[in-house]
Amino acid sequence: MAHSPNTPLQPLTALKSGPLKGRLKVPGDKSISHRALMFGALATGTTRITGLLEAGDVINTAKAVTALGAKAEKKGPVWEVKGRGTGGLMQPEAGIDFGNSGTGTRLMMGVIAGHGITVHMSGDASLSRRPMSRVLKPLRLMGLETAEDRETLPLTVRGTASLVPIDYVLPVPSAQVKSAILIAGLMAKGQTTVVEKEATRDHTERMLRYFGAQVRTVEKDGTTRITVTGDAELEGRDVVVPGDPSSAAFLIAAAVLVPGSDVTVEGVLVNETRIGFYKTLQEMGADVVLSNPREEGGEPIADIRARASKLKGVNVPADRAPSMIDEYPMLAALAGFAGGDTRMEGLAELKVKESDRLAATAAGLAANGVSATVDGDTLIVHGTGKVKGGGTVATHLDHRIAMAFLTMGLASEEPVSVDDTAMIATSFPEFRGLMERLGAVYRAG
Ligand code: S3P
Repeated sequence: MAHSPNTPLQPLTALKSGPLKGRLKVPGDKSISHRALMFGALATGTTRITGLLEAGDVINTAKAVTALGAKAEKKGPVWEVKGRGTGGLMQPEAGIDFGNSGTGTRLMMGVIAGHGITVHMSGDASLSRRPMSRVLKPLRLMGLETAEDRETLPLTVRGTASLVPIDYVLPVPSAQVKSAILIAGLMAKGQTTVVEKEATRDHTERMLRYFGAQVRTVEKDGTTRITVTGDAELEGRDVVVPGDPSSAAFLIAAAVLVPGSDVTVEGVLVNETRIGFYKTLQEMGADVVLSNPREEGGEPIADIRARASKLKGVNVPADRAPSMIDEYPMLAALAGFAGGDTRMEGLAELKVKESDRLAATAAGLAANGVSATVDGDTLIVHGTGKVKGGGTVATHLDHRIAMAFLTMGLASEEPVSVDDTAMIATSFPEFRGLMERLGAVYRAG
């Protein structure tokens, strides 16, 4: 697998490229793909998934549900999951490796919580550093146990058929934590409620309803209470996965940055809880237009067209962070090309992603001659309208750090290198191929 300490590094360099042109699609949304597999496993009957993201993180979730007795396999273009019903998953024969995926791990903790099974969960070096207490704390209140006195992987977790419902205020704005609790709540006796002070992506709520669960959302005094009814029965469904806006972000950013470009990405998920990056680009003056709005699989989608644009620095408020949390490395790199400062507030969660993305982004900018200041949870990029480049970026097993700087290098004066690209396959294996189809130039090494 890409993250073994013995795997040789795969460095890559982005070169200044000519105009990027074309219309294309990006692979399926990662968040929705994980959920489709897990809810399919918890449903009765067969779930058929079209457009599943076939990237490392999601394949690990497919393997995980299969190991728990809900076989997930590809038949022609469609993935089929043979569900076992809520509470029906089985003791796996061996431990389960979640690779690089925080989403896979945390949501599966919610799944396992409602089953009387014991599962050894592990991951790569990046995942093994990420905090699990945020999900373990509420899940322990519900009845989950862990064998180790530790809050990071590897962990042996034990679920129970008699979970207790909880009413829980999220201490961090995390869709992963919200989802883990709601999933466990499906198997608890009674009503489980999660309260969020800042809206996070709502794919779990939408898809659980689609699978037949009772999920109620009430907004009051600026907070959202989401309640799921326990002892739920889910029914297998057909799911169509829309294009991933977090992957499209790199192609759109490249089109905005490279002079003369005109690129359209078709069929991208444009759920309000996911499009903060595109709003911010428009505020920066980028020619980014959403058109042809429609629905796919219970989610709004649209085509996104971007043309090369002159950018100005903006303030990105903290309350926008959850809707673009995975896009900050790309935005920060873009901000180097803008005239003036771009101030991004409320970035605490960036520090606990696949890497400390705040530090990794700041270091990558510095290596390429972009001046930036980190002030607590705020990142300020001092844009000058152009980026020198010429540096090598340390990616720290983080796919989005790699892709952000490989996008920046297409428009900087000198080439930009990243020390490794292997982990790009965890979320967007087609990244380089699609960029090259648009006209981007990369050189190995
Ligand atoms: C995800 C939620 C986000 C995001 C991650 C996917 C999800 O994490 O960074 O890539 O599918 O729920 P947090 O909810 O922990 O911020």
